[in-house]
Amino acid sequence: MRMISTNYLVIGSGVAGLTFAVKAAEKFLDKNIVIVTKGDEDESNTKYAQGGIAVVLDTEEDSFQKHIKDTLIAGDGLCDEKVVEMVIKEGPQRLRELIAWEANFDLNSEGGFDLGKEGGHSEYRVVHHKDITGYEVERALLERVHQLPNITLLPHHFAIDLVTDHHLENPAPEKLSCYGAYVLNQEDGNIITIQAEHSLLASGGIGRVYGHTTNPIIATGDGIAMAYRAKAQIKDMEFIQFHPTALYNAEGGSYFLISEAVRGFGAYLRNKDGYRFMPDYDKRAELASRDIVSQSIDNELKKSGDTHVFLDCTHLDIVTLKKHFPNIYNKCLEHHINIEKDWIPVVPASHYLCGGIVVDKKGRTSVNNLFACGECTRTGLHGANRLASNSLLEALVYAHNIFKYLETNPDVATPKTIPDWNDEGTSIPKEHVLIQHNLKQLQALMRDYVGIVRSNDRLIKAVGHLDLIYREAEEFYKKSKITTTLCELRNMINVGHLIIGQSIERKENRGGYFNLDNLGLVD
Ligand code: FAD
Ligand code: SIN
Repeated sequence: MRMISTNYLVIGSGVAGLTFAVKAAEKFLDKNIVIVTKGDEDESNTKYAQGGIAVVLDTEEDSFQKHIKDTLIAGDGLCDEKVVEMVIKEGPQRLRELIAWEANFDLNSEGGFDLGKEGGHSEYRVVHHKDITGYEVERALLERVHQLPNITLLPHHFAIDLVTDHHLENPAPEKLSCYGAYVLNQEDGNIITIQAEHSLLASGGIGRVYGHTTNPIIATGDGIAMAYRAKAQIKDMEFIQFHPTALYNAEGGSYFLISEAVRGFGAYLRNKDGYRFMPDYDKRAELASRDIVSQSIDNELKKSGDTHVFLDCTHLDIVTLKKHFPNIYNKCLEHHINIEKDWIPVVPASHYLCGGIVVDKKGRTSVNNLFACGECTRTGLHGANRLASNSLLEALVYAHNIFKYLETNPDVATPKTIPDWNDEGTSIPKEHVLIQHNLKQLQALMRDYVGIVRSNDRLIKAVGHLDLIYREAEEFYKKSKITTTLCELRNMINVGHLIIGQSIERKENRGGYFNLDNLGLVD
């Protein structure tokens, strides 16, 4: 089997992984960086980000204090205030770097940034590139990566597991260390060992665990599951953010996002009778934070028995709307919805994970030499609910912090040999139907028992159901040669287990976590 040695192994090619790689490659000229990413090099949640990046730039109207306050309110008392302050104050500098790497953002008629507004923001502060900000950020970062000779980018390479002391069969020390990862070449089926001094998990979110999601197919929580198996600390997994306005899709699968910036632009939420219900729930109406809007829609749907509500743009200036949101306008047209005169059918869909792998301000996990950055992490910025457009910002800031830490803490010893991946006694799986069946069961379980509104009874039942799925998948895994879908299923089961377990432990409702028993509404 093949073995590669590198200074830095980066798992994931979204904003978090690419930003770190660019910074490390530009500064550490004598070091090499290997990026592995499953699928095409640009496939990531980053690529689909619409609204933009929340940064305080207009200091006449806005201030760091206002952005900090909005973030803390959205996080419902569970943010780490020091982290919030650090991330928000670093924002302008990180944005300047992105611009230096030739990412373009929309300007207004005076030549300043055209700032958008989203739920929970008290000011206009969201820097964007039309309604395809993430696409632009990903494009610029990938172009920079391809210019740097000390980066090797390996698309279609799937990280299976981290290499830790357990694999070395050392007596396990008190604190484990990470020495790289086992990686599947998805094109030829070979498993390579990548030995690294430092490894960075930048593997993104978990949306696919729910099936109905705004996230693309890569969002299967692999990094969180790998970190969990490597005994890293994982926290706040109960705080799943459901985006209020995904385009209703009767078939399930991917739910195209209708950006919150459309509500920031003045769109209204209505039920099928045309009633604008959000003012009944919150004085900020459609611009309340995401947890509140999603829970309100869920309540409306439960009352009416309807499958979706509507987003109404028909009263808005259509010329400017089309200019700001060309992608959304065209996507709706593809679905025979002309937003000039038709209401858009929308429904909440799983969108973002506020918790994840616990990291400190330097992006260090609880495992030596293992860093994590971006959506797979729990930094303390989001608390119980992320403020819109704070995620790209968080990834940029933490990628920088990790790089700065490594600048002064460069070298670590790595073992000379790492055993090859052991697949003795396994064979090529013949029955892929089992994987698909278990995946569908898992997704239905998470939607029906662990969704926007939870109860103790449903959570306890979910533990039992998940256990059956887990046992069947483990039995299959032990005798099968590694495939991407099998590993993803196993990872999603691990993530489901963490979400359910940490939900059961939470005894009060906060932000995105809502359990009927905590209101005393269930006997
Ligand atoms: P990602 O961008 O998801 O990248 C993860 C990478 O890891 C991918 O390349 C993936 O292929 C790779 N990977 C995963 N597992 C493995 C494995 N086992 N082996 C190898 N590679 C692996 N946030 C904002 O701040 N503003 C917005 O406007 C905004 N809009 C959004 C709109 C949509 C539709 C979505 C889905 C999210 C949006 N978000 C937004 C959230 C934001 O886009 C993400 O949180 C952020 O981009 C995550 O970046 P990341 O680098 O951590 O992960
Ligand atoms: C959106 O554009 O509504 C998504 C923004 C985000 O998730 O931060």
